[in-house]
Amino acid sequence: MKTKLILHYHLLQIFFFLYLLHFTNSSQDPSSAIISRFQEYLQINTSQPSPDYKKATAFLLSQAQSLSLESQTFELAKNKPIVLLKWPGSNPHLPSILLYSHTDVVPSEPEKWSHHPFGAHLDSEGNIFARGSQDMKCVGMQYLEAIRKLKAGGFQPVRTVYLAFAADEEIGGHDGAEKFAESDIFKNLNVGIVLDEGLPSPNENYRAFYAEKGAWWLAIKAKGAPGHGAKLYDNSAMENLYKSIESVRRFRASQFDLVKAGLKGEGEVISVNIVYLKAGTPSPTGFVMNLQPSEAEAGLDIRVPPTADAEALERRIAEEWAPASRNMTFEVLIIL
Ligand SMILES: *[C@@H]1O[C@H](CO)[C@@H](O)[C@H](O)[C@H]1NC(C)=O
Ligand SMILES: *[C@@H]1O[C@H](CO)[C@@H](O)[C@H](O)[C@H]1NC(C)=O
Ligand SMILES: [Zn+2]
Repeated sequence: MKTKLILHYHLLQIFFFLYLLHFTNSSQDPSSAIISRFQEYLQINTSQPSPDYKKATAFLLSQAQSLSLESQTFELAKNKPIVLLKWPGSNPHLPSILLYSHTDVVPSEPEKWSHHPFGAHLDSEGNIFARGSQDMKCVGMQYLEAIRKLKAGGFQPVRTVYLAFAADEEIGGHDGAEKFAESDIFKNLNVGIVLDEGLPSPNENYRAFYAEKGAWWLAIKAKGAPGHGAKLYDNSAMENLYKSIESVRRFRASQFDLVKAGLKGEGEVISVNIVYLKAGTPSPTGFVMNLQPSEAEAGLDIRVPPTADAEALERRIAEEWAPASRNMTFEVLIIL
């Protein structure tokens, strides 16, 4: 079992700071042009399961051209293009900065929208309605607009800045980020830091996130001899599962107590929640009431900070929450 450490940085903040500095003294690029370009990107229907990657690619390449950025497009999986742009630094030997974003968006139900999801309608209050406006075309465009401003102001980066616009994040990233990260193309970029998806900000404050909890979704399963519901005996599946549940709840409380006492932030503790319980023998009217079942199961949603001791948690699961000595097993459903 391993946790995937996902670092979601927002260097954007720095870029935006520089951007604002430049914005005040170079106003030849009015904000309406920035909005129009953003709308143009939003109007491309890159909705899963059949995103229009061709159109998105053409749009991004046109942006690259207008910014005089070097560009290349490659497919590590058929019809799943990655657009890679390059702004060479004055010292190309230093590790580079990679500004990463994905071009696909999740599906939408147009009839439930007040404006069409790919209309990018701008209302009188400045709200833009579009699927992907937050996740995450705004970030992709902010990278480009920040570079546009920096370039207009004569800024030259020391490190080479790359921008990657990749496919398929919303369906797991296997044919996007995953293949890219394993590729020689990526290795050759000599990346020192990657900035990826964060949260859009509704005001002038840009928050920097530098860590994200990983998700461990587990099923813990107990077995025990079945028996009559009237009898008291040890080691039934329910009793075995209950011991685990008590242990999980004690651990949960110990973590939550740290937060409540103000000793740790919510992001610094391991959270665990029991999200389902599965047991019992169905009957036509519900469950058989006088039978102790031979199997019982609980689902756990565990969230693990990158700073947590993952091995200690694995031991806890194997020894306390699903110990073989109590006829228990566990199954990892997903690790994110
Ligand atoms: C986006 O494109 C797909 C594939 O062509 C289509 O099925 C879907 O209806 C489009 N979505 C909207 C909201 O227009
Ligand atoms: C585990 O299962 C075995 C075999 O069914 C049984 O003999 C034993 O008592 C069980 N132990 C516990 C703790 O449930
Ligand atoms: Zn996203």
